[in-house]
Amino acid sequence: MPEIVCVRGDITEADVDAVVNAANSSLLGGGGVDGAIHRKGGPAILAACRELRAGPYPDGLPTGQAVATTAGDLPASWVIHTVGPVYSRREDRSDLLVSCYRESLRVADELGAATVAFPAVSAGVYGWPMGDAARIAVTTVRAAATRVAEVRFVLFSDDALAAFTAV
Ligand code: APR
Repeated sequence: MPEIVCVRGDITEADVDAVVNAANSSLLGGGGVDGAIHRKGGPAILAACRELRAGPYPDGLPTGQAVATTAGDLPASWVIHTVGPVYSRREDRSDLLVSCYRESLRVADELGAATVAFPAVSAGVYGWPMGDAARIAVTTVRAAATRVAEVRFVLFSDDALAAFTAV
């Protein structure tokens, strides 16, 4: 089980081996974490994402899956892009959010990453209630069979930090 750390901050500044991006299926950028990572990481990340769309992911990255690219100008070595589920009151999509964390750690293990930073996937534009997003994130990472030594949840607000710390 990896050591779990919760900090308040900007994930693009996290000095870790791999930074997880809360992407969308297109892999071609967006707002929130996605926008920040592409803006700070530079065009190399988008170029790598375009190669993924031209190659293994012609229809984009499916929800719940993860794929790595270069981290460009970020302090990290890799960006692991994962697509969270959009929150729905009618349908329980928790298993897809669990999959984002499991698959991102699986990719991190393939890379040999020892430290991984996660944002609160799906808890922004995709509308997932922060408390539940935190519960799913922390319990999934705690239960993960991974060689990653440290998982750092980098939260963008005091409320988010409190929600993750509470779990
Ligand atoms: N560092 C850390 N956390 C951040 C940062 C940042 N620089 N910017 C935003 N966040 C936080 C948000 O406050 C939220 O708590 O990350 C969490 C996830 O929010 P989003 O980035 O909106 O991601 P998500 O809810 O998964 O929605 C994904 O948004 O940006 C688009 O292209 C993206 O379509 C995709 C969708």
